[in-house]
Amino acid sequence: SAGDGTSGIAGKRVFIRVDFNVPMDKKTGEITDDARIREAIPTIKLVMEAGAKVVLASHLGRPKPGKRDLSLEPVGARLAELTGYEVHVPEEIVGDAPKKVIYDLRVGQVCLLENLRFHEEEEKNDENFARQLAELCDVYVNDAFGAAHRAHASVHALPRLMRERAAGLLLLKELRALGRLVDRPEKPYVAVLGGAKVSDKIDVVEALLGVVDTLCIGGAMANTFLAAQGKDMKKSKIEEDKLPLARTILSKAGNRGVQILLPTDVVVASSLEADAGSAVAADAVPDGAMALDIGPKTVALFADSFKRAKTVFWNGPMGLFETPAFSKGTFELAKLMSKASGFTVVGGGDSAAAVKQAGDEVAKGFKHISTGGGASLELIEGKKLPGVEALRATEGAE
Ligand code: 3PG
Repeated sequence: SAGDGTSGIAGKRVFIRVDFNVPMDKKTGEITDDARIREAIPTIKLVMEAGAKVVLASHLGRPKPGKRDLSLEPVGARLAELTGYEVHVPEEIVGDAPKKVIYDLRVGQVCLLENLRFHEEEEKNDENFARQLAELCDVYVNDAFGAAHRAHASVHALPRLMRERAAGLLLLKELRALGRLVDRPEKPYVAVLGGAKVSDKIDVVEALLGVVDTLCIGGAMANTFLAAQGKDMKKSKIEEDKLPLARTILSKAGNRGVQILLPTDVVVASSLEADAGSAVAADAVPDGAMALDIGPKTVALFADSFKRAKTVFWNGPMGLFETPAFSKGTFELAKLMSKASGFTVVGGGDSAAAVKQAGDEVAKGFKHISTGGGASLELIEGKKLPGVEALRATEGAE
């Protein structure tokens, strides 16, 4: 129908850039989380039902130059299972072979191009490669929110070459949800950051300090902040060179009236391989021990702040959650956050995976679970996403 923007695409070849960069088990090659595939289906269905030919394209991981070690075949198989569509994966990405596959597509069949990163021109945002992709289609749709922060050929150069281009349903949903965190978020606003490194999160911390009321910091990055406060973290992972930065962040927060909550207790063990840990006060880490998770008091402290919050954003696990002994902080936090009544959003990556592992009930409680890791952080940082900019009329008209 005209209202959904699909009128006039019947019979046309529609290139849908999706983010099928799904996590896979390193040993078995099995897909461990197919959320990115599932979330792309509404747009694929919409285009299919409008009578168009569907050409899907994605990257997967970071294949070594010249190697074809990360095929999208298993992803195609999962898509076929989930949709009942017949999924054709031509060996070549550009040229006559895929053109023929696309030409021959019938109702109920889709073409999934191989891993775009098999061509190194993809990451170089190469015009010629984009032109070859453009030959495969009449209409361009970007539904790859997770890759929208990459100025790569299929995300940036290609749409600029296309007269007919649009945002897909998932991209729109993500921009709408994450936009609520950037554009005058409802207060109180609480952000929870975790993960390994302060350096990975510095831009997002800077941006959040200008907008949140409370910033909870957990995960290994919290160790650096605790050390910056003078606590002896013993064997814990600390970024020595980031101690001054952590101090600057703490004092900036103070100046701006932002409350920073750090762990008051941590789960410690003598090594990453330990199969049990014990909770101790953050200023009483015993000799030879390292902090690997936040403790129950910290979970309660953080959770208390988002009980009243109107907006909650979470990115990064609270500990080494892949190991059962150190997963409780992350899972408990997920559980309590899912019960909060505010607008609760989880950025993609590890924290989104953790929320799903915590169970359906927990995942359902969140207002939005983003499919984008880096992309959602860049949006929060107030950056423009190349994939979104390339869809705008003025840019393409250059
Ligand atoms: C992601 O998983 O964040 C996106 O698919 C982008 O992948 P990349 O970090 O390899 O560019």
